[in-house]
Amino acid sequence: MVTLQQLREVLVENNQSHLLHFYDELNDEEKQKLLAQLSNINFSEVNQLFKNAMESLNEQGVKLDSKMKPVPSHTFESEESINSELLAQYKKLGLEEISKGHVAVLLMAGGQGTRLGVNYPKGMYSVGLPSGKTLFQIQAERIKKVMNLSKQQTGTAGNIVWYIMTSGPTDKTTEKFLKNNDYFGLNKNDVVQFKQGLLPCFDFDGKIFLEDKNTVALAPDGNGGIYRALKNNGILEDMKVRGVKYLHAHSVDNILVKVADPVFIGYCVKKGAECGAKVVKKSGPNEAIGVVCQIDGKFQVVEYSEITEKTANLRDEEGNLIFSSGNICNHFFSTDFLNKIADRFESQLKLHVAKKKIPHVNQRGENVKPSTPNGIKIEKFVFDVFEFTNKFVTWEVPRHSEFSALKNADNPEGTAVDCPTTSKRDLLRLHKKYIENAGGKVTTNEVEISPLLSYAGENLEIRVKGKVFDKKTVILSDEEQLFMNNNNTIDGPVISNGKFYVE
Ligand code: UTP
Repeated sequence: MVTLQQLREVLVENNQSHLLHFYDELNDEEKQKLLAQLSNINFSEVNQLFKNAMESLNEQGVKLDSKMKPVPSHTFESEESINSELLAQYKKLGLEEISKGHVAVLLMAGGQGTRLGVNYPKGMYSVGLPSGKTLFQIQAERIKKVMNLSKQQTGTAGNIVWYIMTSGPTDKTTEKFLKNNDYFGLNKNDVVQFKQGLLPCFDFDGKIFLEDKNTVALAPDGNGGIYRALKNNGILEDMKVRGVKYLHAHSVDNILVKVADPVFIGYCVKKGAECGAKVVKKSGPNEAIGVVCQIDGKFQVVEYSEITEKTANLRDEEGNLIFSSGNICNHFFSTDFLNKIADRFESQLKLHVAKKKIPHVNQRGENVKPSTPNGIKIEKFVFDVFEFTNKFVTWEVPRHSEFSALKNADNPEGTAVDCPTTSKRDLLRLHKKYIENAGGKVTTNEVEISPLLSYAGENLEIRVKGKVFDKKTVILSDEEQLFMNNNNTIDGPVISNGKFYVE
């Protein structure tokens, strides 16, 4: 570790010497903590980031309309409009890749979930399903199921490694939760957790804030931090050793996410893509969602705020929105592409700057909780790598079966969007549809299908055909059912790898 004297010099050189202002007041333990934190920061690099960030802040608000083009038609397909034969081909190919062990999942779970407002990682959130399952459990069970499907098709169930990116604020709790729940039936060695980086929070003059006298104010570097973190934590190497070729990367907060979706993977592999985006049709011109498009011939996501109302409203001859490919943080990457990004392009990723109210200790040693924005947080976004490839494809899926985000807390009026109530509603609506398609009837809104029984509505007839579901029910897999019977458990418990989690 660097000495105090060396650190002082670095800080003076980089105009950040205020960070040691309270050093002499600290006890030994506090001193050590602060020194350790400071010696982990590359001050000339973060100062440069601040400069770049302020420049990009000045560019914010510039509209991109005149440069935007929809993605070329040969890079776009829609699950709803292609024929069933082609769809089956993609699925078959995806399942084959899974059975060969070529596919892994990259879960982005480093966000702080400030809008949802719970003090634990979002993946641990339960939206109140009849089973009580959390987002992590649902996703883990979908991975388990898709491995079974690949075995059914090919005779070999390839491993799907679950790479989970956490951050300082979510890491330890996530680790403990997964461990306490036996990784929800997945093999412990195939659940690989790693931490994304943190960046200092700055005031508008480029001075880094102290959160308290012995702690620098740091925040996760955005979901685009994934590229740096994959390299720095040896994850790219781990993928190489395991023979992983393709990654399905997605956010933690979409309750409908088809984890390791064989159809999406098969489509991207078939097209020889390095990178793919799953999208949903924008619900209307005013939906505040980024759109996948091209700017000056490069693939990009353009945020709702970056286009004028006129462009958002543009329609083709059939009345469809021209810019309608809503980005849902659901991507395909080849490992070759991820290596290329980490080696050559990571430092060129755009910086997204948000003005925030940053609590801190001022130079008089007072704790300040600002009521207006007093500084900036810098983030990178996962989709900003699209521009570094032309082997890019877009796969449009129906929203009702693939996308319902959990962003906000419920409100007392019941009018919140993207909240626990809407997540639960959308999942149970989909399950109702699956049951009806398989010949069952559902007369309540409380019937759930275990992901261990069915991944996307298949395998249900034998369990539901001709039956009426009129009360709160979780339709379990045979394995879960057997476990329930053996353990004489009657009332809606949640099962995971031989354990019950009571609602
Ligand atoms: P959001 O941008 O919606 O952020 O993340 P969030 O943390 O979930 O919620 P707010 O904005 O604080 O309310 C989209 C996805 O990206 C991940 C999140 O965990 C989520 O899966 N993410 C976000 C990261 O992994 N790291 C980050 O630094 C930020």
